[in-house]
Amino acid sequence: MQHFEIVGGTRLKGAIDISGAKNAALPIMAATLLVEGETVLHNVPDLADVRQMQILLSRLGVKVHRDDEGAMHLRVEDEMNAHAEYELVSKMRASVCVMGPLLAKRQRAQVSMPGGCAIGDRPIDLHIRGLESLGADFELANGDVLLRAKKLMGTEIFLGGPFGSSVTATANVMMAATLAQGRTILESAACEPEIVDLAMFLNACGARITGFGTPRITVEGVGALNGTDHRVVPDRIEAGTFMIAGAITNGDVELRGARMEHLQAVTDRLRRVGVIIERGEKGIAVSSARRLEPVQATTQPYPGFPTDLQAQLMTLLCLADGNSMITEKIFPDRFLHVGELNRMGARIRKEGPTAIIEGVKKLVGAPVMASDLRASAALILAGLVAKGTTRVHRVYHIDRGYERIEEKLAGVGAVIRRQAE
Ligand code: EPZ
Repeated sequence: MQHFEIVGGTRLKGAIDISGAKNAALPIMAATLLVEGETVLHNVPDLADVRQMQILLSRLGVKVHRDDEGAMHLRVEDEMNAHAEYELVSKMRASVCVMGPLLAKRQRAQVSMPGGCAIGDRPIDLHIRGLESLGADFELANGDVLLRAKKLMGTEIFLGGPFGSSVTATANVMMAATLAQGRTILESAACEPEIVDLAMFLNACGARITGFGTPRITVEGVGALNGTDHRVVPDRIEAGTFMIAGAITNGDVELRGARMEHLQAVTDRLRRVGVIIERGEKGIAVSSARRLEPVQATTQPYPGFPTDLQAQLMTLLCLADGNSMITEKIFPDRFLHVGELNRMGARIRKEGPTAIIEGVKKLVGAPVMASDLRASAALILAGLVAKGTTRVHRVYHIDRGYERIEEKLAGVGAVIRRQAE
């Protein structure tokens, strides 16, 4: 196991290159199960989750390799296996994205039910509802979801759940619908930029999808899809994380490649806190006033404030001049970072799905434990500004979703090192 050792106190200055979006790359990689011929993906980040998806796809008969420039080449060579096994799915929930493509292309899918994780239950009832609506027969056996369908038939599907839309359920049903017979309409679909990127990839392969980016997506089924070249959209969550890193250290950073239009809710909240955010010529320029204002924030499906930046915003608000509130409407239990931040001198208390953050003058370095990908990022942000040294343990969480985070932060002046336990 490894940990990060961070000495707090330096103001970050300089430019950070934003990588391709993990949550776009993963479903797009899964979508290559639908296509004939070779697909070339550019700007795919080098992450543990991406390597995990490569292993899963190779088990499903896809030949995957990266060329010398880092572009990822994928080609389906064998369609015999349609079983995504527990030992792979349990490591990465996004494996569930192979379900729709396998069902549509191989007429069957056997995918282990993903278990819960640190941020809460992770049901897939909406995925199954959507695929059953397209005509799949569903069975649950020994912890595996079994889906079969000779031919999927387009239909109208309401995909809304108790917490609003579902990102990967939208991905799964949209992918399956591309090869269904006739028209499919997805109501209450997710609008995330990663869904837009997936739809654009599928259309480049010959699919006929409209309305993506809105809650109503229409898919006209086609006979076949062919491989294409595609560049993955920049990662708005990585960009938002580094925005907060620049703000919390009272620094001056430019996030190269980040898209302002994907971060409007984040920009809205951070500007209320006193962070200066401007469109730079190559990305987003971030600096901050010395004094941080307290704010109220609530996580919502896109274009609302993203749940994947909730922990990071909480870290910033620990140092605001007053009491802030964050309500988590997507994963109400996503607060494992609260206990760890309080160990660093924060004053946060949970009241159901809401955290009350009382501003403090400073945070103090301490050994802390990462629990999930984004909570780990929040603890690193706390270490950047805390007095003294912070050790963030279990950095394997962070490696799932941030490419070379310690190099990117050190490149703008952070004192951060990866060390073996
Ligand atoms: C995606 O997860 C992201 N992962 C998550 O990012 C992100 O937190 C989440 O969307 C919300 O934005 C990927 O894209 C790979 P959901 P997903 O289905 O699709 C409930 C990260 O850190 N729900 O949109 O699994 C669910 O419990 C990860 O990169 C059902 O009830 O999330 C949650 O409360 C963490 N039934 C809400 O919907 C279902 O069938 C939104 O979940 C599916 C979901």
